[in-house]
Parts: sequence; C-alpha cells; structure tokens
Amino acid sequence: MLYEIQTYGKEVLRTRTEEIPQIDDDLRVFVANMFETMYAAEGIGLAAPQVNKSIRLFVIDLSPLRENEGKRVFVNPQILEYGETQDEYEEGCLSIPTVHEIVTRPTSIRITYQDMNGQHYDEQIDGFLARVIQHEYDHLEKTLFVDHLSSLKRSLLKKTLKKIASGEIEVEASENYEL
Ligand code: NI
Repeated sequence: MLYEIQTYGKEVLRTRTEEIPQIDDDLRVFVANMFETMYAAEGIGLAAPQVNKSIRLFVIDLSPLRENEGKRVFVNPQILEYGETQDEYEEGCLSIPTVHEIVTRPTSIRITYQDMNGQHYDEQIDGFLARVIQHEYDHLEKTLFVDHLSSLKRSLLKKTLKKIASGEIEVEASENYEL
C-alpha cells in the first residue's frame, strides 16, 4: 500500500517523534509500505514523519546509486557522535519536491539503532550512507535539509517553498533519488 508523502508545510514534519516501544506485525506492515512508497517515488531514504507517522524510524536503500547496498531499517536511532571532517553534497528530499541544494555535513557518525528483529547495533558509519542517515535522522528531529542553508539561500527558496506548501508543486517520481 502506498502512503501519501507529506510535503513542506505539513505540521507532521515539524512534530516531535515517539520512540517505538515494540516491533510488532503492525510495524512490519508499516515498514513494508514505507519501502513500497519510497520505491514508487524513486527515493533512496524515507522517514516515518514523511508518511504522516510521528515515530522514530526511517528506511534507506542506496542500491540504485551504490553497489553492495540494500534495504536498511533504522528503529529508534540515536546519533551519538559526529565526525570532525565535513563534506558537501547536493541534497533533495521527497517532501521538498524540485528543490536541490548543497548541504554541508560531517562525513562520519556513530549511531545506535535497532533492526526489525529488535537487535541493537552500535556502529561507526561514514561516506554516503552517513550522509543519507543524517538527512533521515533530521526528519525525526523535526529538521529539514533547507534548515541547514544560509538565510540568503533560504530567502531565495521562499517562493518555491510557498508553492510546495500550497500544493502548487507536488511530489513526483524523479531520477534524482531523493532522500
Ligand atoms: Ni527528506
């Protein structure tokens, strides 16, 4: 089942997310639908608030862009540390259609999370996966990638963001592999 992707201006993207107390069949169905929704929109990452659910979970599948990568689910993630080195990458977001901007982020993180079997992980992650995780994690923290831009850049985007908020610009599957 496809969910409707919530776009810029929707309150759910700015709502506090709740820890997931238990991994049950309802959650498994939810995650399957999230992957379906993400693939239909040709995204490579999707966070629960983007499909109108204020819980701490996101899914990632970098396989369209990176070999040896596949489906990943992060339940109750917590980023504990950010590396000192930063890099730049042009990000997009399924919730902010047509907008692409360079965002500077740390190249490595240390993160704890659970998988769908409830197993706990504590991992050091770097490179492109660390970038995508930080973008999705931001969604759980009510933050969007445009919040990282300079006020000048943001003011230049104001009109476009207004159009998204009013529904004039809608989500479309694109070849950009949005986060
Ligand atoms: Ni996003």
